[in-house]
Amino acid sequence: MIQIAILGLGTVGTGVAKVVAENRRQIERKLGEPLEVKTVLVRRFRDGPYRQLMTDDFQKIENDPDIRVVVETIGGVEAAYAYTRRAIEAGKHVVTANKQLVAEHGCELLELAKRKNVSYLFEASVGGGIPVLHPLTQCMAANRIDEIYGILNGTTNYILTRMVRTGASFSDALQEAQAKGYAEADPTADVEGIDAGRKICILADLAFGQQMDPAAVPMEGISGLSLQDVKIAQRAGYRIKLLGRAVRLPGGGRTAFVAPHLIPEDNPIANVEDVFNAVMVRGNATGEVMFYGRGAGEMPTASACVADVMECLQASPRRDEIGWSASVEGFEDPLTLKSRHYFRIRGSLADAAAAFGQVEVLSENGETAFLTEPLSGQDAARQSRALNVLACMRTLS
Ligand code: HSE
Repeated sequence: MIQIAILGLGTVGTGVAKVVAENRRQIERKLGEPLEVKTVLVRRFRDGPYRQLMTDDFQKIENDPDIRVVVETIGGVEAAYAYTRRAIEAGKHVVTANKQLVAEHGCELLELAKRKNVSYLFEASVGGGIPVLHPLTQCMAANRIDEIYGILNGTTNYILTRMVRTGASFSDALQEAQAKGYAEADPTADVEGIDAGRKICILADLAFGQQMDPAAVPMEGISGLSLQDVKIAQRAGYRIKLLGRAVRLPGGGRTAFVAPHLIPEDNPIANVEDVFNAVMVRGNATGEVMFYGRGAGEMPTASACVADVMECLQASPRRDEIGWSASVEGFEDPLTLKSRHYFRIRGSLADAAAAFGQVEVLSENGETAFLTEPLSGQDAARQSRALNVLACMRTLS
């Protein structure tokens, strides 16, 4: 019998307990022994199927030699960071879905795990149930990764889809996403692009082998997005999606950011709807590879956590990650990246042309919506200074 502990019994923690119970036969067949949740750390005891397993004392887990893997699903940094360090120090493998912790302290925790000869795995921290980190670091290991972009937040993609398809208001769509267990405890992290930002940092860390400091990565969400722009974009053959992007720059630097983008509708990412996420990884040998699936929710995220638990137990003695250096050197502002820009201005086509020269008009009726030729973010800001700008977004082209 292999025993594990779960820290926190929220959406993901509950899902982990359910997957272990519901899929116990498949899990046992693969591990050669049954897997059992022995202890669950909670702040407040409550009735339910896991009542007998609950403790509010982390020492009971830390000092229990029978517990080989700790699944951290508390979220946030403070307590999760302290418990993760203590569990690793105690010689236990740790698995997590906590993107904030991994984005901010992943490099250090991996280093600690290496010293203690245990695994620290976090597949569920990016893309929920989509296997993307293991394929990125293992199956694509022979590539130089040049770019990653994707829809990395299920809540905002769900909100955008509901608004476009049913005309639901932003707040109604957000409430639906919360009711389905997709959103963070504080949904600001979802709607302001912070959750997607943490995930693109983790992808960039692993792809480029160097720390991407989340505090340096510009993150813009969808709270300022107008339905009018969504409709103009759609009529012109584009979909607006919130993208996280990490790019290796020609001079050897690298950048990352999160922002809404206009995406041509023939790009498969444009048709990723509801809670689904998609991650496009461009390797110099493979070209573009796309990963697609449910990016949030109890069971998909728990599936990734339990697979990591099994991976810890099967890897002997620990799963080796690729090098991830703590150096943040080489980060450049994404404003240097060139792309076509979408603008909606209060003004005429003549105003747009005076600022940008040749533009592609998408809509004109007192306001003018148009696409520029490819230009950097700095040039887009400088050339639009004299315009009355109502909306501005990059395109993915
Ligand atoms: N709140 C996140 C999302 C959960 O909506 O994608 C999964 O990380």
